[in-house]
Amino acid sequence: MAELRKVVLLGATGSIGESTLAVIRNNPERFQLIGIAANQNSEAIEAIKEEFKVAHSALYKKDGLDGLMALATLPEADVVVVATTGTVGVRPTIAALEAGKTVGLANKETLVLAGKFVMEAAARSKGCILPVDSEHNAIFQCLEGLKDRTNLKRILLTASGGPFLHHTKRELEEVTLEQALDHPNWDMGPKVTIDSATMANKGLEMIEAKWLFGLQPGQIDVVIHPQSIIHSMTEFRDGSVMAQLAPPSMTFPIQHVLAWPDKVEPCQEGLDFTKIHNLELRPPDLDKFPCLALAREALQQGGIAPAVYNSANQAAVDAFLEKKLGFLAIPKVIRHCLESASFKEPGSLEELLDLENELLQFAGAQIEKIAD
Ligand SMILES: NC(=O)c1ccc[n+]([C@@H]2O[C@H](COP(=O)([O-])OP(=O)(O)OC[C@H]3O[C@@H](n4cnc5c(N)ncnc54)[C@H](OP(=O)(O)O)[C@@H]3O)[C@@H](O)[C@H]2O)c1
Repeated sequence: MAELRKVVLLGATGSIGESTLAVIRNNPERFQLIGIAANQNSEAIEAIKEEFKVAHSALYKKDGLDGLMALATLPEADVVVVATTGTVGVRPTIAALEAGKTVGLANKETLVLAGKFVMEAAARSKGCILPVDSEHNAIFQCLEGLKDRTNLKRILLTASGGPFLHHTKRELEEVTLEQALDHPNWDMGPKVTIDSATMANKGLEMIEAKWLFGLQPGQIDVVIHPQSIIHSMTEFRDGSVMAQLAPPSMTFPIQHVLAWPDKVEPCQEGLDFTKIHNLELRPPDLDKFPCLALAREALQQGGIAPAVYNSANQAAVDAFLEKKLGFLAIPKVIRHCLESASFKEPGSLEELLDLENELLQFAGAQIEKIAD
């Protein structure tokens, strides 16, 4: 019989948190929730503790980073799912890897900001990273069994195109917060939903993929796939392409990560090919979605450029969510920050986290100028 996996879930009260709980609920003989954390939602944390009889919990607002670190390194934990938003997940991710845990990483900003330090921690420890983000989880699955990595030509990250796929540039000027929060396929937290509407989400995923799979910028492409059924693809040297398919629900990559390398019964119905009549694929419109082109620039530039991209986007999305900034100002802020931010490359994780604060302030100042 397969062993019982003990799971810690950081960001338990969010959208990924909810999907992770659904997978655990569906497989009580395989997964046991032993630790949970959130930012401030104590009511939801108490409800989860009661339902799953969880022994350990923390709230960032009350216990600070120490609370998250203690959970990420719990001696009895096998898997630590990092499903917080923003970059608070960086230190707990590294600590969990150094403690030899399997990290189910949903939080893309952690890799975008600190990919170098996170991957170094994975390389020098017994821990490993399994990607939860559905595109990277798909790539991971397509690469399983590939003996020689030089045979991988490129990856194709699929993108639904978000709620404004069919909008003209002119129409994009008018979009409201409510429209941007209404994603056609995925039910996600507000930050990642806005990122999907601007396609900065796919930009962050390009950077995430570079770190996870050790790719050159030219090996990472994006293709629009409105149905969100093909979660991503790999193309090999001989021209053959592999794709991973599943319904558009995060329970599929999460159950893959929690059970890996084994498999468990799904908590939702799989695909019904009698009802799927077409799978559309087309190139993205970089003119309409400049956040995507800017991410490629940041990726090619390297150095601190991905960190600048991430902080500028974070600050701009926060301002958009507070209705202080228009939708099309988000790429403008990112472009401006990429063109004008000049900071010293950090030599340590501490310097990088300090740099992030400076970058957020820098972006905040640009936003105030634009908003005036
Ligand atoms: N949702 C998706 O389908 C999806 C898909 C792929 C990747 N991701 C990535 O997964 C991450 C989570 O996304 P989400 O959609 O689940 O976000 P969400 O619904 O907004 O949930 C965020 C979770 O993180 C917690 N949190 C926020 N700040 C924290 C802090 N400082 N310390 C501890 N916990 C904190 C929140 O707690 P409170 O409830 O107390 O605020 C909540 O539990 C993001 O990085 C996103 O890009 C999401």
